Amino acid sequence: MDKAIVKLENVSFSYGKNKVLEDVNFSIEEGDFVGIIGANGSAKTTLLKLMVGLLEPDKGAVYLMGKAIKDFKDYKSIGYISQNVRHFNPMFPATVKEVVGANLNTSRNFFERSRKKEEEKIYKALEIVEMGQFMDKKIGKLSGGQKQRVFIARALINKPKILFMDEPLVGVDLNSQDKFYSLMEKLNKEYNITLVMVSHDIGVITEKVNRILCLSRGRVYDHKPDQTICFDMLKEVFGNKMNILIHRH
Ligand SMILES: Nc1ncnc2c1ncn2[C@@H]1O[C@H](COP(=O)(O)OP(=O)(O)OP(=O)(O)O)[C@@H](O)[C@H]1O
Ligand SMILES: [Mg+2]
Repeated sequence: MDKAIVKLENVSFSYGKNKVLEDVNFSIEEGDFVGIIGANGSAKTTLLKLMVGLLEPDKGAVYLMGKAIKDFKDYKSIGYISQNVRHFNPMFPATVKEVVGANLNTSRNFFERSRKKEEEKIYKALEIVEMGQFMDKKIGKLSGGQKQRVFIARALINKPKILFMDEPLVGVDLNSQDKFYSLMEKLNKEYNITLVMVSHDIGVITEKVNRILCLSRGRVYDHKPDQTICFDMLKEVFGNKMNILIHRH
């Protein structure tokens, strides 16, 4: 059986005349923890949006869980946490409980819905990200990192198979960063969730993931994190800063 949970075949994508991805081929397997790295504007966000079906390729095909993306309907089984979650409108009046609960599968008959059961589910999802005690707080009153975790809980409530995250660690302090990676490890190993994460922090991410996708000039290079070829390519992208990044830990 094909274990690919995401597959891109000969994918090209342009914004108008600006071709940002060309002939991209890779697949992500169940259980992978994939890091996506590349300079600003190298199309990392674009690549994520193609993988979750928010953008359509000009050429080639994207498959999600074995289905052509246009036939894919099971959106509750994937989680996508965009780059701007932490700028979430601070005046938004909903509580944490409401934000997480709004993502619950509501296919059941209205009369069958049990508020208590739903609350339990919400609390369980929040407990995984250690935000259980914030259930009744207003979402706008939380810090950026706390909001991030609430949105992870919001995705977790439907037991997703795969979670896509776009730079979840920007503006997160080192201590919270450690906690974040412990959480990722738990989601990946205990809950068997495949993880795809964009990050600029090459030094740290290469230690945590089992696969790296390097983006450069419209191409995607698929590597194991310890392969020097990837570092060579990154050096081309990041220049001398690369040494600092690699040797920081
Ligand atoms: N909606 C859009 N319309 C036109 N061009 C866009 C749009 N979004 C992105 N681009 C362009 O496509 C390229 C890739 O953008 P993208 O946001 O995918 O890069 P990125 O790697 O995520 O960058 P960053 O590290 O800054 O988040 C950039 O040149 C950008 O200017
Ligand atoms: Mg981006």
